[in-house]
Amino acid sequence: MTFSLTGRTAIVTGAGAGLGAAAARAFAEAGANVLVTDIDADAAACVAREIADAGGRAESAPLDVRSAEQAAAAVTQAAAMGDGSVHILVNNAGAIAPAMFSKMEEEAFRRIIDIHLIGSWVCSKAVLPHLPEDGTGRIINVTSAAGLTGTIGQANYGAAKAGIVGLTKSLAKELARQKVTVNAVAPLAATAMTHKVRTDEKLSSANLARVAMARWAEPEEIAPVFVFFASDAASYVTGQVLPVDGGLVI
Ligand SMILES: NC(=O)c1ccc[n+]([C@@H]2O[C@H](COP(=O)([O-])OP(=O)(O)OC[C@H]3O[C@@H](n4cnc5c(N)ncnc54)[C@H](O)[C@@H]3O)[C@@H](O)[C@H]2O)c1
Repeated sequence: MTFSLTGRTAIVTGAGAGLGAAAARAFAEAGANVLVTDIDADAAACVAREIADAGGRAESAPLDVRSAEQAAAAVTQAAAMGDGSVHILVNNAGAIAPAMFSKMEEEAFRRIIDIHLIGSWVCSKAVLPHLPEDGTGRIINVTSAAGLTGTIGQANYGAAKAGIVGLTKSLAKELARQKVTVNAVAPLAATAMTHKVRTDEKLSSANLARVAMARWAEPEEIAPVFVFFASDAASYVTGQVLPVDGGLVI
């Protein structure tokens, strides 16, 4: 079946919660071996256990995406779950540190670039030697409307996410000769990251006013798009950024 991930091994970063956890569950449902990683090792272990209890194949590993050492260990662990390849990497881990530019400290700017942009680079670099060259290798990055159209109070996050768009397109061109596709998802969903903008009355209505469908998705509504990019169904799609955001970016 075109959307099946049977026999594939996937690493999802930041998968202890939110969109990463939903993607990990969906990958397992599609038949993949999944290494659930997060800086929060307990959260990752909890998601992996839940997947295994539901009959899927999952393990967990602590992974701060800024650490090349931890990324290498995670890749080794994932490779041992299947045939030695790691077919799919989802660079999903993320955090925010909003502030207006005039008040934003250099530390907060560097930290957010470090987690999102450098973290995606670190994990992609670590997985590269294990990506198969038979057309099943996938890197799926996670960007944001903030990186496509900018967001007030998030110069750090917007710059990091725009950087991820450039990383996606450059790696897509470079890795095409290894038959590896590289794409990005720009989601919008109800997760811990969006808790404040969803629950603050003023922020919430201002945000939803920009979304054509005028509602937030649950993470489970975003996850199938990760499965699509990971699967054979997307074998001829590379270098693309797909907003999955109810019409925020049109
Ligand atoms: N939720 C949205 O509407 C939305 C919109 C656009 C983009 N995104 C992006 O989607 C991704 C997932 O976000 P989410 O909404 O699920 O948020 P979330 O806060 O629910 O989950 C983020 C996860 O990343 C982990 N994490 C944080 N720093 C890490 C690090 N250094 N190394 C490894 N893991 C780390 C956290 O522990 C957490 O489990 C992020 O890249 C985010 O920027 C989300």
